[in-house]
Amino acid sequence: MEDLSLHILDIAENAIRAKANLIIIEIEENDELVLRIKDNGEGMDAETLKMVTDPFYTTKEGKKAGLGVSLISMAAEQAGGTFQIESEPGVGTELIATFKTDHPDIKPMGDILSTLEALVIANPSIRFIFHYKKGEEIYSFDSRE
Ligand SMILES: Nc1ncnc2c1ncn2[C@@H]1O[C@H](COP(=O)(O)OP(=O)(O)OP(=O)(O)O)[C@@H](O)[C@H]1O
Ligand SMILES: [Mg+2]
Repeated sequence: MEDLSLHILDIAENAIRAKANLIIIEIEENDELVLRIKDNGEGMDAETLKMVTDPFYTTKEGKKAGLGVSLISMAAEQAGGTFQIESEPGVGTELIATFKTDHPDIKPMGDILSTLEALVIANPSIRFIFHYKKGEEIYSFDSRE
């Protein structure tokens, strides 16, 4: 996968599949890029959570691999960053990936606003909140407003 925005799309799709009606995406960029994606979907129990970064773990029927989470965690690690995912059944899931912005292997952000637009248009019943911050530059978006 070329761009971080495509990883974000993948993770948002997981949240949609988990029946979230609120998905919050936050990006804060300084010497580190911190990406936080939080949903209020059905969540995962501790057992499932342990397997979620395994590329062979999926609950999609007829599929042998579940790559979304493992790929974003690899992308973070390859860019000198970290990956963390927390989840609670019935409450939701939060994923935090960090990337070193000066790392040669950090992927470009890509067209995050188009990605977001596509998500909002395809999922009118889901509230998407997006926060972006880089130095003085702040951008916020709420699909309910
Ligand atoms: N936000 C989430 N809420 C609830 N369950 C999740 C969430 N994200 C992932 N999961 C669970 O973890 C599994 C693995 O997720 P992952 O994105 O790695 O693969 P996938 O979605 O199954 O397949 P792919 O992303 O390759 O299409 C999912 O099948 C789902 O059961
Ligand atoms: Mg997925």
